[in-house]
Amino acid sequence: MDPNSKTIPSSAAPPEKNRGEVMAEHRLKTSVAIIGCGDVGSTLAYTLVLQPICSEVILVDPKEDLLQAQVRDLGDATYRGQTGARVRAGTHKDAGQADIVVITAGAKQKIGESRLSLLSRNLHILSSIFQAMSPINPNTILLLVANPVDILTYFARKLSGLPESQVLGTGTTLDSARLRGILAQKADVAPNSIDAYVLGEHGDSQFIAWSSCTIGTSPLRLALPQVSDPAFKKDIADHTRGAAAAIIAAKGCTAYGIGMVAASICKYILFDSRTVRPLSFYQPELGCCLSMPAVIGRKGIIKKMPIELDESEQKNLEECAGNLRAVIDGAEKEMMADEQLRKALEADKGS
Ligand SMILES: NC(=O)c1ccc[n+]([C@@H]2O[C@H](COP(=O)([O-])OP(=O)(O)OC[C@H]3O[C@@H](n4cnc5c(N)ncnc54)[C@H](O)[C@@H]3O)[C@@H](O)[C@H]2O)c1
Repeated sequence: MDPNSKTIPSSAAPPEKNRGEVMAEHRLKTSVAIIGCGDVGSTLAYTLVLQPICSEVILVDPKEDLLQAQVRDLGDATYRGQTGARVRAGTHKDAGQADIVVITAGAKQKIGESRLSLLSRNLHILSSIFQAMSPINPNTILLLVANPVDILTYFARKLSGLPESQVLGTGTTLDSARLRGILAQKADVAPNSIDAYVLGEHGDSQFIAWSSCTIGTSPLRLALPQVSDPAFKKDIADHTRGAAAAIIAAKGCTAYGIGMVAASICKYILFDSRTVRPLSFYQPELGCCLSMPAVIGRKGIIKKMPIELDESEQKNLEECAGNLRAVIDGAEKEMMADEQLRKALEADKGS
Protein backbone atom coordinates (compact mmCIF):
# COMPACT_ATOMS: atom_id res chain seq x y z
CA MET A 1 0.00 0.00 0.00
CA ASP A 2 1.26 3.49 -0.80
CA PRO A 3 2.33 4.97 2.60
CA ASN A 4 1.40 8.45 1.36
CA SER A 5 -2.11 7.51 0.34
CA LYS A 6 -4.74 9.06 2.55
CA THR A 7 -7.24 6.54 3.84
CA ILE A 8 -9.93 7.32 6.33
CA PRO A 9 -9.13 5.26 9.44
CA SER A 10 -11.91 2.80 10.23
CA SER A 11 -13.56 3.33 13.62
CA ALA A 12 -13.15 -0.43 14.24
CA ALA A 13 -9.35 -0.24 13.80
CA PRO A 14 -7.53 2.22 16.10
CA PRO A 15 -4.21 3.34 14.55
CA GLU A 16 -1.95 1.71 17.16
CA LYS A 17 -3.17 -1.82 16.29
CA ASN A 18 -2.69 -3.54 12.96
CA ARG A 19 -5.63 -5.17 11.21
CA GLY A 20 -4.56 -8.70 12.16
CA GLU A 21 -4.45 -7.80 15.86
CA VAL A 22 -7.85 -6.15 15.70
CA MET A 23 -9.40 -9.14 13.93
CA ALA A 24 -7.90 -11.58 16.42
CA GLU A 25 -9.28 -9.47 19.28
CA HIS A 26 -12.73 -9.50 17.68
CA ARG A 27 -12.62 -13.26 17.25
CA LEU A 28 -11.68 -13.75 20.89
CA LYS A 29 -14.27 -11.37 22.32
CA THR A 30 -18.01 -11.93 22.32
CA SER A 31 -19.95 -8.98 23.61
CA VAL A 32 -23.56 -8.44 24.58
CA ALA A 33 -24.68 -4.87 25.24
CA ILE A 34 -27.77 -4.38 27.40
CA ILE A 35 -29.54 -1.06 26.98
CA GLY A 36 -31.44 -0.42 30.20
CA CYS A 37 -30.18 -2.04 33.40
CA GLY A 38 -33.30 -2.08 35.55
CA ASP A 39 -34.95 -5.29 36.73
CA VAL A 40 -34.90 -7.13 33.39
CA GLY A 41 -31.55 -5.82 32.09
CA SER A 42 -29.65 -6.63 35.28
CA THR A 43 -31.23 -10.10 35.59
CA LEU A 44 -30.24 -10.81 31.99
CA ALA A 45 -26.69 -9.60 32.73
CA TYR A 46 -26.50 -11.90 35.76
CA THR A 47 -27.68 -14.89 33.70
CA LEU A 48 -25.14 -14.15 30.93
CA VAL A 49 -22.34 -13.93 33.49
CA LEU A 50 -23.23 -17.07 35.44
CA GLN A 51 -23.49 -19.42 32.46
CA PRO A 52 -21.20 -17.76 30.96
CA ILE A 53 -22.50 -17.00 27.47
CA CYS A 54 -20.19 -14.16 26.34
CA SER A 55 -16.87 -12.66 27.39
CA GLU A 56 -18.11 -9.10 27.87
CA VAL A 57 -21.37 -7.59 29.08
CA ILE A 58 -21.76 -3.85 28.46
CA LEU A 59 -24.46 -2.05 30.46
CA VAL A 60 -25.99 1.27 29.39
CA ASP A 61 -28.47 3.35 31.40
CA PRO A 62 -28.96 7.11 31.83
CA LYS A 63 -29.39 6.64 35.60
CA GLU A 64 -25.67 6.96 36.34
CA ASP A 65 -25.81 5.88 40.01
CA LEU A 66 -27.90 2.83 39.17
CA LEU A 67 -25.58 1.95 36.28
CA GLN A 68 -22.42 2.12 38.39
CA ALA A 69 -24.07 0.15 41.21
CA GLN A 70 -25.25 -2.60 38.84
CA VAL A 71 -21.76 -2.87 37.28
CA ARG A 72 -20.14 -3.18 40.72
CA ASP A 73 -22.72 -5.64 42.05
CA LEU A 74 -22.55 -7.82 38.90
CA GLY A 75 -18.76 -7.50 38.90
CA ASP A 76 -18.73 -9.02 42.40
CA ALA A 77 -20.44 -12.09 40.93
CA THR A 78 -17.53 -12.59 38.49
CA TYR A 79 -14.60 -12.72 40.93
CA ARG A 80 -15.26 -16.28 42.13
CA GLY A 81 -16.55 -19.33 40.26
CA GLN A 82 -16.12 -20.38 36.67
CA THR A 83 -17.05 -17.26 34.73
CA GLY A 84 -14.50 -15.38 32.66
CA ALA A 85 -17.08 -12.77 31.69
CA ARG A 86 -16.41 -9.08 32.42
CA VAL A 87 -19.10 -6.50 33.11
CA ARG A 88 -18.58 -2.82 32.32
CA ALA A 89 -20.54 0.38 31.89
CA GLY A 90 -20.68 1.79 28.38
CA THR A 91 -22.21 4.51 26.26
CA HIS A 92 -24.91 3.96 23.67
CA LYS A 93 -22.15 4.38 21.03
CA ASP A 94 -20.06 1.54 22.57
CA ALA A 95 -23.15 -0.62 22.74
CA GLY A 96 -23.83 -0.16 19.03
CA GLN A 97 -20.57 -2.03 18.25
CA ALA A 98 -21.42 -5.16 20.28
CA ASP A 99 -22.17 -8.57 18.74
CA ILE A 100 -25.67 -8.45 20.23
CA VAL A 101 -27.59 -5.40 21.47
CA VAL A 102 -30.46 -6.26 23.79
CA ILE A 103 -32.97 -3.47 24.39
CA THR A 104 -34.68 -3.66 27.76
CA ALA A 105 -34.91 0.13 28.17
CA GLY A 106 -38.29 1.61 28.76
CA ALA A 107 -41.31 1.99 30.94
CA LYS A 108 -42.80 -1.18 32.36
CA GLN A 109 -46.42 -2.09 33.03
CA LYS A 110 -48.03 -0.85 36.19
CA ILE A 111 -50.54 -3.12 37.90
CA GLY A 112 -53.48 -3.71 35.55
CA GLU A 113 -51.83 -1.86 32.63
CA SER A 114 -51.61 -3.48 29.18
CA ARG A 115 -48.34 -3.80 27.25
CA LEU A 116 -49.72 -1.75 24.37
CA SER A 117 -50.28 1.24 26.65
CA LEU A 118 -46.47 1.59 26.95
CA LEU A 119 -46.09 2.21 23.23
CA SER A 120 -45.82 5.98 22.98
CA ARG A 121 -43.25 6.33 25.82
CA ASN A 122 -41.17 3.36 24.73
CA LEU A 123 -41.17 4.32 21.06
CA HIS A 124 -39.66 7.71 21.93
CA ILE A 125 -37.01 5.97 24.06
CA LEU A 126 -36.30 3.51 21.23
CA SER A 127 -35.83 6.25 18.68
CA SER A 128 -33.45 8.18 20.99
CA ILE A 129 -31.44 4.97 21.54
CA PHE A 130 -30.87 4.49 17.80
CA GLN A 131 -29.84 8.13 17.37
CA ALA A 132 -27.32 7.71 20.20
CA MET A 133 -25.96 4.34 18.92
CA SER A 134 -25.46 5.49 15.33
CA PRO A 135 -23.48 4.31 13.39
CA ILE A 136 -24.41 0.81 14.47
CA ASN A 137 -22.16 -2.20 13.69
CA PRO A 138 -23.71 -3.65 10.50
CA ASN A 139 -23.26 -7.20 11.85
CA THR A 140 -24.98 -6.57 15.19
CA ILE A 141 -28.00 -8.65 16.08
CA LEU A 142 -30.71 -6.62 17.79
CA LEU A 143 -32.84 -8.35 20.38
CA LEU A 144 -35.89 -6.43 21.59
CA VAL A 145 -37.29 -7.19 25.04
CA ALA A 146 -39.00 -3.91 26.02
CA ASN A 147 -42.76 -3.84 25.53
CA PRO A 148 -44.86 -3.81 23.47
CA VAL A 149 -42.16 -6.03 22.04
CA ASP A 150 -43.74 -6.85 18.64
CA ILE A 151 -44.40 -3.20 17.80
CA LEU A 152 -40.97 -2.10 19.01
CA THR A 153 -39.33 -4.86 16.95
CA TYR A 154 -41.16 -3.52 13.87
CA PHE A 155 -39.88 0.02 14.49
CA ALA A 156 -36.37 -1.12 15.51
CA ARG A 157 -36.06 -2.70 12.08
CA LYS A 158 -36.89 0.63 10.46
CA LEU A 159 -34.86 2.87 12.80
CA SER A 160 -31.70 0.71 12.82
CA GLY A 161 -31.45 0.20 9.06
CA LEU A 162 -30.24 -3.37 9.76
CA PRO A 163 -31.36 -6.29 7.57
CA GLU A 164 -34.65 -7.91 8.65
CA SER A 165 -32.92 -11.13 9.70
CA GLN A 166 -30.84 -9.25 12.29
CA VAL A 167 -33.74 -7.67 14.18
CA LEU A 168 -35.81 -9.89 16.43
CA GLY A 169 -37.88 -9.75 19.58
CA THR A 170 -38.23 -12.28 22.40
CA GLY A 171 -41.91 -12.39 21.41
CA THR A 172 -43.83 -15.37 22.75
CA THR A 173 -40.76 -17.41 23.75
CA LEU A 174 -41.54 -16.63 27.39
CA ASP A 175 -45.27 -17.38 26.96
CA SER A 176 -44.32 -20.68 25.27
CA ALA A 177 -42.01 -21.56 28.18
CA ARG A 178 -44.94 -20.93 30.56
CA LEU A 179 -47.18 -23.12 28.39
CA ARG A 180 -44.55 -25.85 28.43
CA GLY A 181 -44.39 -25.62 32.21
CA ILE A 182 -48.11 -26.01 32.72
CA LEU A 183 -48.49 -28.85 30.16
CA ALA A 184 -45.55 -30.65 31.80
CA GLN A 185 -47.34 -30.52 35.16
CA LYS A 186 -50.61 -31.76 33.68
CA ALA A 187 -48.95 -34.62 31.77
CA ASP A 188 -46.41 -35.39 34.52
CA VAL A 189 -43.41 -35.27 32.17
CA ALA A 190 -40.29 -33.10 32.01
CA PRO A 191 -40.88 -29.65 30.41
CA ASN A 192 -38.19 -30.34 27.80
CA SER A 193 -40.24 -33.28 26.47
CA ILE A 194 -42.92 -30.85 25.38
CA ASP A 195 -43.04 -28.98 22.08
CA ALA A 196 -45.82 -26.41 22.28
CA TYR A 197 -45.91 -22.85 21.01
CA VAL A 198 -47.80 -19.71 21.84
CA LEU A 199 -47.76 -17.65 18.64
CA GLY A 200 -48.69 -14.15 17.50
CA GLU A 201 -48.52 -11.17 19.82
CA HIS A 202 -46.68 -11.16 23.14
CA GLY A 203 -49.89 -9.72 24.53
CA ASP A 204 -53.61 -10.16 24.71
CA SER A 205 -54.20 -11.43 21.14
CA GLN A 206 -51.69 -14.31 21.43
CA PHE A 207 -52.93 -17.83 20.69
CA ILE A 208 -51.77 -21.40 21.29
CA ALA A 209 -51.00 -23.54 18.24
CA TRP A 210 -52.77 -26.53 19.86
CA SER A 211 -52.90 -28.60 16.68
CA SER A 212 -49.10 -28.91 16.51
CA CYS A 213 -48.34 -29.54 20.23
CA THR A 214 -46.52 -32.79 20.97
CA ILE A 215 -45.25 -34.62 24.04
CA GLY A 216 -42.29 -36.66 22.90
CA THR A 217 -43.48 -37.62 19.45
CA SER A 218 -47.12 -38.07 20.50
CA PRO A 219 -49.74 -35.54 19.46
CA LEU A 220 -51.28 -33.83 22.48
CA ARG A 221 -54.71 -35.42 21.92
CA LEU A 222 -53.10 -38.85 22.56
CA ALA A 223 -50.71 -37.84 25.36
CA LEU A 224 -53.13 -35.57 27.24
CA PRO A 225 -56.69 -36.55 26.27
CA GLN A 226 -58.19 -33.76 28.45
CA VAL A 227 -57.38 -31.32 25.62
CA SER A 228 -60.54 -32.43 23.89
CA ASP A 229 -62.39 -30.38 26.58
CA PRO A 230 -62.60 -26.71 25.49
CA ALA A 231 -62.74 -25.56 29.15
CA PHE A 232 -59.40 -27.30 29.86
CA LYS A 233 -57.80 -25.52 26.90
CA LYS A 234 -59.30 -22.17 27.89
CA ASP A 235 -57.93 -22.49 31.44
CA ILE A 236 -54.44 -23.13 30.12
CA ALA A 237 -54.63 -20.29 27.59
CA ASP A 238 -55.87 -17.88 30.31
CA HIS A 239 -53.11 -18.96 32.64
CA THR A 240 -50.43 -18.44 29.97
CA ARG A 241 -51.82 -15.06 28.87
CA GLY A 242 -52.31 -13.79 32.42
CA ALA A 243 -49.09 -15.06 34.02
CA ALA A 244 -47.15 -11.78 33.72
CA ALA A 245 -49.98 -9.65 35.13
CA ALA A 246 -50.31 -11.94 38.16
CA ILE A 247 -46.56 -11.76 38.90
CA ILE A 248 -46.44 -7.97 38.36
CA ALA A 249 -49.41 -7.51 40.71
CA ALA A 250 -47.47 -9.26 43.49
CA LYS A 251 -43.85 -8.13 42.95
CA GLY A 252 -43.89 -5.21 40.51
CA CYS A 253 -42.00 -6.82 37.65
CA THR A 254 -41.16 -10.09 35.92
CA ALA A 255 -37.44 -10.67 35.54
CA TYR A 256 -36.15 -14.23 36.01
CA GLY A 257 -38.14 -15.90 33.22
CA ILE A 258 -37.40 -13.21 30.66
CA GLY A 259 -33.76 -13.01 31.86
CA MET A 260 -33.31 -16.72 31.12
CA VAL A 261 -35.19 -16.54 27.81
CA ALA A 262 -33.17 -13.56 26.54
CA ALA A 263 -29.87 -15.11 27.69
CA SER A 264 -30.74 -18.37 25.88
CA ILE A 265 -31.47 -16.45 22.68
CA CYS A 266 -28.05 -14.72 23.02
CA LYS A 267 -26.51 -18.19 23.36
CA TYR A 268 -28.29 -19.53 20.26
CA ILE A 269 -26.93 -16.55 18.33
CA LEU A 270 -23.34 -16.55 19.58
CA PHE A 271 -23.03 -20.37 19.38
CA ASP A 272 -24.81 -20.46 15.99
CA SER A 273 -26.92 -23.22 17.47
CA ARG A 274 -29.76 -23.24 14.87
CA THR A 275 -32.36 -23.73 17.61
CA VAL A 276 -36.06 -23.41 16.72
CA ARG A 277 -38.02 -20.95 18.87
CA PRO A 278 -41.14 -18.79 18.43
CA LEU A 279 -39.57 -15.36 17.98
CA SER A 280 -40.97 -12.03 16.90
CA PHE A 281 -39.68 -11.01 13.47
CA TYR A 282 -40.99 -9.32 10.35
CA GLN A 283 -43.72 -11.23 8.51
CA PRO A 284 -43.92 -9.61 5.04
CA GLU A 285 -47.28 -11.21 4.21
CA LEU A 286 -48.84 -9.77 7.40
CA GLY A 287 -47.05 -6.39 7.42
CA CYS A 288 -45.97 -6.60 11.07
CA CYS A 289 -43.63 -8.37 13.47
CA LEU A 290 -45.12 -11.19 15.51
CA SER A 291 -43.99 -14.57 16.77
CA MET A 292 -43.75 -17.56 14.47
CA PRO A 293 -41.30 -20.46 14.76
CA ALA A 294 -37.85 -19.65 13.38
CA VAL A 295 -34.36 -21.13 13.24
CA ILE A 296 -31.96 -18.87 15.09
CA GLY A 297 -28.18 -18.69 14.64
CA ARG A 298 -25.17 -16.38 14.35
CA LYS A 299 -26.81 -14.22 11.69
CA GLY A 300 -30.09 -13.87 13.58
CA ILE A 301 -33.20 -15.35 11.99
CA ILE A 302 -31.75 -18.01 9.68
CA LYS A 303 -35.12 -19.08 8.32
CA LYS A 304 -38.78 -19.28 9.14
CA MET A 305 -39.89 -22.77 10.19
CA PRO A 306 -43.15 -23.84 8.52
CA ILE A 307 -45.98 -24.74 10.89
CA GLU A 308 -49.39 -26.23 10.08
CA LEU A 309 -52.21 -24.22 11.63
CA ASP A 310 -55.80 -25.42 11.62
CA GLU A 311 -58.60 -23.16 10.42
CA SER A 312 -59.29 -21.49 13.78
CA GLU A 313 -55.56 -20.95 14.50
CA GLN A 314 -55.13 -19.38 11.07
CA LYS A 315 -58.04 -17.06 11.89
CA ASN A 316 -56.40 -16.20 15.26
CA LEU A 317 -53.17 -15.37 13.43
CA GLU A 318 -54.92 -13.05 10.98
CA GLU A 319 -56.84 -11.27 13.77
CA CYS A 320 -53.68 -10.88 15.80
CA ALA A 321 -51.82 -9.40 12.79
CA GLY A 322 -54.79 -7.08 12.11
CA ASN A 323 -54.62 -5.73 15.71
CA LEU A 324 -50.87 -5.20 15.54
CA ARG A 325 -51.11 -3.59 12.11
CA ALA A 326 -53.72 -1.10 13.40
CA VAL A 327 -51.43 -0.13 16.30
CA ILE A 328 -48.49 0.30 13.90
CA ASP A 329 -50.57 2.52 11.59
CA GLY A 330 -51.59 4.70 14.55
CA ALA A 331 -47.97 4.98 15.75
CA GLU A 332 -46.73 5.82 12.24
CA LYS A 333 -49.28 8.65 11.98
CA GLU A 334 -48.21 9.96 15.39
CA MET A 335 -44.54 9.85 14.36
CA MET A 336 -45.30 11.69 11.14
CA ALA A 337 -47.21 14.39 13.04
CA ASP A 338 -44.27 14.76 15.50
CA GLU A 339 -41.86 15.12 12.60
CA GLN A 340 -44.03 17.77 10.92
CA LEU A 341 -44.27 19.68 14.20
CA ARG A 342 -40.49 19.51 14.66
CA LYS A 343 -39.91 20.84 11.13
CA ALA A 344 -42.47 23.64 11.62
CA LEU A 345 -40.80 24.71 14.89
CA GLU A 346 -37.38 24.70 13.18
CA ALA A 347 -38.72 26.77 10.30
CA ASP A 348 -40.22 29.25 12.81
CA LYS A 349 -36.88 29.60 14.57
CA GLY A 350 -35.14 30.23 11.24
CA SER A 351 -37.58 32.95 10.09
N1 LIG B 1 -40.70 -9.20 26.39
C1 LIG B 1 -40.94 -9.72 27.59
O1 LIG B 1 -41.32 -10.90 27.68
C2 LIG B 1 -40.79 -8.85 28.81
C3 LIG B 1 -40.80 -9.40 30.10
C4 LIG B 1 -40.62 -8.55 31.19
C5 LIG B 1 -40.46 -7.16 31.00
N2 LIG B 1 -40.48 -6.68 29.72
C6 LIG B 1 -40.33 -5.24 29.44
O2 LIG B 1 -38.97 -4.85 29.62
C7 LIG B 1 -38.93 -3.44 29.90
C8 LIG B 1 -38.05 -3.19 31.10
O3 LIG B 1 -38.64 -3.72 32.29
P1 LIG B 1 -37.90 -3.53 33.71
O4 LIG B 1 -38.74 -4.24 34.70
O5 LIG B 1 -36.46 -3.85 33.59
O6 LIG B 1 -38.05 -1.93 33.89
P2 LIG B 1 -37.13 -0.99 34.81
O7 LIG B 1 -37.88 0.28 34.98
O8 LIG B 1 -36.71 -1.72 36.03
O9 LIG B 1 -35.84 -0.72 33.89
C9 LIG B 1 -35.86 0.03 32.73
C10 LIG B 1 -34.54 0.77 32.63
O10 LIG B 1 -34.45 1.40 31.34
C11 LIG B 1 -33.68 2.57 31.54
N3 LIG B 1 -33.75 3.48 30.40
C12 LIG B 1 -34.72 4.40 30.10
N4 LIG B 1 -34.37 5.07 28.98
C13 LIG B 1 -33.18 4.58 28.57
C14 LIG B 1 -32.30 4.87 27.49
N5 LIG B 1 -32.60 5.82 26.57
N6 LIG B 1 -31.15 4.19 27.38
C15 LIG B 1 -30.84 3.22 28.28
N7 LIG B 1 -31.62 2.90 29.32
C16 LIG B 1 -32.77 3.57 29.48
C17 LIG B 1 -34.25 3.16 32.83
O11 LIG B 1 -33.38 4.13 33.38
C18 LIG B 1 -34.40 1.90 33.68
O12 LIG B 1 -33.28 1.67 34.49
C19 LIG B 1 -40.40 -3.00 30.07
O13 LIG B 1 -40.85 -2.42 28.87
C20 LIG B 1 -41.12 -4.32 30.35
O14 LIG B 1 -42.49 -4.25 30.01
C21 LIG B 1 -40.62 -7.49 28.63
